[in-house]
Amino acid sequence: MTQVSLAVRAPSANRVYAQAAGALALAEAHWVLGAHRGTVPVVSERVVGGMDALEVHTDDDAAPATAATGRLLGSLSSTLGVLDVVEEPTTSPAVSAAPLLRPRDLPGILHHPADLETILRYPGKTNEQFTALLINLAAALSTRREGLFDGSLSLLDPLCGRGTTLNRALRLGLSPIGAEIDRKDIEEYRAFLGTWLRDHRLRHTLDSTRLTVHGEQLGTRLEVQLAPDKRTLRDGGGQHVTVLGCDTVRLGELLPDASVDALVADLPYGVQHGSRAGGAWQRSPLEVLRAAVPGWRRLLRDGAGLALAVNRRTLDHEQASAVLAGSGLQVLSPDGAFRHRVDRSIDRDVLLAVPSNHPRVEQLAALAADQENRTS
Ligand SMILES: C[S@@+](CC[C@H](N)C(=O)[O-])C[C@H]1O[C@@H](n2cnc3c(N)ncnc32)[C@H](O)[C@@H]1O
Repeated sequence: MTQVSLAVRAPSANRVYAQAAGALALAEAHWVLGAHRGTVPVVSERVVGGMDALEVHTDDDAAPATAATGRLLGSLSSTLGVLDVVEEPTTSPAVSAAPLLRPRDLPGILHHPADLETILRYPGKTNEQFTALLINLAAALSTRREGLFDGSLSLLDPLCGRGTTLNRALRLGLSPIGAEIDRKDIEEYRAFLGTWLRDHRLRHTLDSTRLTVHGEQLGTRLEVQLAPDKRTLRDGGGQHVTVLGCDTVRLGELLPDASVDALVADLPYGVQHGSRAGGAWQRSPLEVLRAAVPGWRRLLRDGAGLALAVNRRTLDHEQASAVLAGSGLQVLSPDGAFRHRVDRSIDRDVLLAVPSNHPRVEQLAALAADQENRTS
C-alpha cells in the first residue's frame, strides 16, 4: 500500500535560500531518498495548511521500512517535522473522507545541541543548513551510508575553514577529519571548540602537535577527543576530531588510502576566501582542485560519495567534471541540479560525484537522469 508522508519545511530554510528553498529541499530529498532506498523516489512540493512541505510517496509495507523512511525524512536539512497522511474510512457516504495528518515521532539523530553549529560567526562561514545538506548528500552516495546514523561513517572536509562541516558531523555522532591551510582558522576553531566543550561539561582532550611528513614540517595537527564520561575517554572511545593544518594537496601523504566514505567541501568562492595553489592565492578554485583531487581520490573508498559546493562564477560544471574525471571520479548531478543564488557574487551549485568504479554507479546515474528529465 502506498504511504504518503509530508516533511514540513523549517521556516529558516526559506530565509536562507529565499526563492530556491523548495527546489533545494526537493533535490536533496530526491538524492537522499533515492540513494538510500535504491529506487527513484516519488516526491513533490506541496503547501499544507499554509506550511511548505515535501510530499513523499513510498510503498513501505513493513514497520522497519516505514521507520527507516521516517528517519531519512527527519534527517533532511530543511525538515521541521514529519506527518503521515492517513485516509480515515467514513461510516456515512454523506460525509467526505478528509485525510488526517498523523505526526511521527522521529528517532533523534543529533547528539549535541544546536549551538555547536551556530555560536561561531564569521565572514565566509558556510551556512549550517546548507552544510547539513552537503553531508546528507555525500553520505547518501556512499555504500556505507548507514554509518551516518551509527557514527561509523568516515567524513573528510579537505577545505574545512573554521569547522562548520566538522561541527555538524560531531552533532551527527561522527568523528570527522578536516584540513585547512589558514593557521588563523585552526586557532579560532581550537579556541571555540575548547570553550564549547568546557561550557557543556563534556570530558575531552585537546592537543596541538607538529604535523610532519618525511621530516618536513607542514603545520599543526589538532586532535580532539570528546566523551560522555571519564572511562570512555580513558579507553580512547567517544568521538574524535582531527584538523590538519596544511595545504589540502598534501592530504594523500597524510591519511590512509581508501579510508574515507564521504568527502564534503565548500570550495573557495573567490569572494571571502581564495584558493591557495602552488603558494599563490587565486580567485578560481580550479588550480587547487587540479592539484588536490588525485590525492583526495587515493583517500576515498571505491564506494565513497562526494558533495562539492561551487560558485558557478569561478568554476563551471564542465571544468570541474573534467578535473574530477581525470582522477577517476564521475560527476553524477546535472549542471544546475542544486543551483541557487547566495548573493550578487555567488551563484552556487553542488556537484555530486563518486569514484567511477563505485559499485552503485549505474543506480545513482538513474537518479541523475530522472532529475534531468524533470527539470528539462
Ligand atoms: C569556502 S571556505 C570553507 C568554509 C568552511 N566550510 C567554514 O564554514 O568555515 C574554503 C576554505 O578553503 C581554504 N583553502 C583554500 N586553499 C586551500 C588549500 N590549498 N589547502 C587547504 N585549504 C585551503 C580557505 O582558507 C578557506 O578556509
